[in-house]
Amino acid sequence: MKIEGKEYQTIWFDKKNQVVKIIDQTKLPHQFIIKDLKTVRDAINAIKTMEVRGAPLIGATAAYGLVLAIIENNDQTFLKKSSEDLISSRPTAINLKWAVDRMIKKLSRVNSDQILNIALNEAKEICEEDIKFCENIGLNGLKIIEEIYNKKKDIVNILTHCNAGWLATINWGTATSPIYHAHKKGIPVHVWVDETRPRNQGANLTSYELNEEEVPNTIIADNTGGILMQRGEVDMCIVGTDRTISTGDFANKIGTYLKALAAKDNNVPFYVALPSSTIDWETKDFKNIPIEERNSEELTHVEGLDKNNNVEKVLIYPKKSKAMNLAFDVTPAKYVTGLITEKGVCDASTEGLKKLFK
Ligand code: MRU
Repeated sequence: MKIEGKEYQTIWFDKKNQVVKIIDQTKLPHQFIIKDLKTVRDAINAIKTMEVRGAPLIGATAAYGLVLAIIENNDQTFLKKSSEDLISSRPTAINLKWAVDRMIKKLSRVNSDQILNIALNEAKEICEEDIKFCENIGLNGLKIIEEIYNKKKDIVNILTHCNAGWLATINWGTATSPIYHAHKKGIPVHVWVDETRPRNQGANLTSYELNEEEVPNTIIADNTGGILMQRGEVDMCIVGTDRTISTGDFANKIGTYLKALAAKDNNVPFYVALPSSTIDWETKDFKNIPIEERNSEELTHVEGLDKNNNVEKVLIYPKKSKAMNLAFDVTPAKYVTGLITEKGVCDASTEGLKKLFK
């Protein structure tokens, strides 16, 4: 997708300099900075500090992290330790484990003189596959938007939470892909973008990328969705997911659950967009999904531009107050209208998922 008219992907390998290039998302929307990851430790830090974030993108970064590990030290013990450190760098998104397991499977019993090329090809393949999957999610979700438009014959208002946009994937995004496809087809869409406290992925990333693609959007405070739904100003919700278990229950950015409850109460269709790399087939009970708790400083401090256009971080809470920062919540499948996947749209249930993914 485009930034200032130029096409970008969120991650790529620079063969000449043997580094991985990323867009540093902690600097958006005020600065657009491309950063080099030179070592596996750089990749782990980028995931932990959320220079890269979003389930599919952290999976791809972990895959490239292993490429960097091989460049640094082509040794099995180092590769094993790097794999473990990458998987544990963030706990909720299953894509980290999915990508690392896929890389390790590909690299097992490979000669050490071939391992780098094979790792590089597999990391690229993970990225290319994600682009294709996200494109298909877009085409499948487009049909739903078209149906709403054909009935309404007016702007389709879509609410989304966090950033499940192209910045969270390699290209297209998951939740945003149907929106981009509809926009490109000339269907009038408008997006209600939840700000998504505390990291403001909605305001800083989703609104930013929609602006760059000229998709009309409005940022709202996280608690605004309910009244908009009561007023009939939301035609559908589409969100992403960090882990969807085989029952159709799913984890996503904190606050998603409350949007799903409000949608149910107001008969607003609530869709979850996901590539199959986000499905956790092993966990059977959503209570067993690990929920990341991040540093409370993400809540107590905010960053913005001062009057001289310098980025500044300020404390906004009383100095003595404690704060808790759970990064994800779980939405039970019963609140989900459908899962939009690369293979089609299905019920959020074991049967629904199994029909698409035999
Ligand atoms: O903490 P983040 O910004 O990594 O959380 C991202 C989300 O919750 C996204 O909705 C999810 O990863 C899906 S991305 C296509």
